[in-house]
Amino acid sequence: MKPIDPKIVHRLFYPSVPVVLCASYGERRSAMPVVSYASLSEEPALVGLSCFRGSSTLKTALRARCFALCILDRKYSSSVEFLGTHTGKRMKDKISASGLTPVKAKKIACYVIKESSAVVECLYMRKIKTGDHFLLVGKVAEVYASEDFDDYWRFKSYKPILYTGMKGGFSLYGT
Ligand SMILES: Cc1cc2nc3c(=O)[nH]c(=O)nc-3n(C[C@H](O)[C@H](O)[C@H](O)COP(=O)(O)O)c2cc1C
Repeated sequence: MKPIDPKIVHRLFYPSVPVVLCASYGERRSAMPVVSYASLSEEPALVGLSCFRGSSTLKTALRARCFALCILDRKYSSSVEFLGTHTGKRMKDKISASGLTPVKAKKIACYVIKESSAVVECLYMRKIKTGDHFLLVGKVAEVYASEDFDDYWRFKSYKPILYTGMKGGFSLYGT
């Protein structure tokens, strides 16, 4: 086997299913895809995601003290690509700028994406400095999904994005 630069170790984990982290504060509606996420605990239900410290969505989530994770079908890949390749630092409504539709979350003060196949609404719990990223930990407040989820995904209507990296553009596994 050949040696690999430790900085790109995350690429060995691809293909990964990105989720879109959404957060809102005042008039700002931020969103960015993340692949570095995990469910951390079942009882209480906790999720964690690793966010680059300079990302504007992380800043919005920290101000709002809540955030949501939106899972999108692969037909929205170009919007997810937009969210992952443009910073919302100077955008009030990055969700609309990506071609997606912002709608109010059910339990938290946050705009989520109407086109989502599933939404996980979270209350901010803590942040842990992990190198040049922050591990953002949230307590799950509300979860909802399309009919395709029957305790497990059936993949009849929901087709996940399988992200393989940005070499030569946003690429998907199996396309
Ligand atoms: C598919 C995909 C997955 C990504 N995963 C992560 C991630 O796990 N953590 C992270 O900090 N950035 C990740 N990024 C990069 C951010 O989404 C990107 O820097 C984004 O433009 C930040 O936007 P913002 O500044 O508006 O928050 C990912 C990008 C793509 C395209």
